[in-house]
Amino acid sequence: MAPNPAPPPQIAARPRQSILVRVIAMVLLALIVLVGLAVLIIWLSVRPKHLVYSIEDGSIHDYNLSNNHLNANFHFVLRAHNPNSKVSIYYDKMEATVYYNDETLAFNTVEPFFQPHRNVTRIGLNLGAKDVSLYDPVAKDLKLERSAGEVELEVRLKAKIRFKVGAWKSKHRTLRISCEPVMVHFSSSKNFGRALCDVDL
Ligand SMILES: *[C@@H]1O[C@H](CO)[C@@H](O)[C@H](O)[C@H]1NC(C)=O
Ligand SMILES: *[C@@H]1O[C@H](CO)[C@@H](O)[C@H](O)[C@H]1NC(C)=O
Repeated sequence: MAPNPAPPPQIAARPRQSILVRVIAMVLLALIVLVGLAVLIIWLSVRPKHLVYSIEDGSIHDYNLSNNHLNANFHFVLRAHNPNSKVSIYYDKMEATVYYNDETLAFNTVEPFFQPHRNVTRIGLNLGAKDVSLYDPVAKDLKLERSAGEVELEVRLKAKIRFKVGAWKSKHRTLRISCEPVMVHFSSSKNFGRALCDVDL
């Protein structure tokens, strides 16, 4: 190859340009990394871990099933455990429903409440079934369980919640809690077996 006698003029300009491009690229990269780190830190600290719910007590009062129509009052104690050390929770709206064989027996709303971080709160749920008409096979099953002394229920809760971390509050999210089987004795002298709940957030 013949030596190049006169280098083209732009070669002298190139290093400066490429340094500028490199600086810009590094600044951009640093920004991306910083933003990514910030998002990761916020996500890690905000993402709620292991909200734990269970039904600790359950009872049935004023039970009357006649002509496939049910009247009864259900009482449950929901235990809500927030083990997070930084995240507290606003329960702005909460609804509780009790099902038997996938049929709704009773429904009620729960008073809004605030749960601090690292906290256990027990919530009493009172659900009244007022003249609820049941399908014939469902009523038959319920009668059988009544005579056996114990009924297998499902308790579901749906809540609109917000998380609070320091002064920051999240948007509303829907929390779904499903507890089954909840075995409830008609006779209140029997011990209640705690029922763990599935959580969908
Ligand atoms: C149950 O309900 C039926 C129909 O409403 C009524 O006739 C009956 O007296 C009730 N039984 C009890 C124990 O309250
Ligand atoms: C949980 O929070 C509620 C409401 O602030 C409070 O009344 C209760 O004492 C707290 N329980 C525990 C175990 O910290």
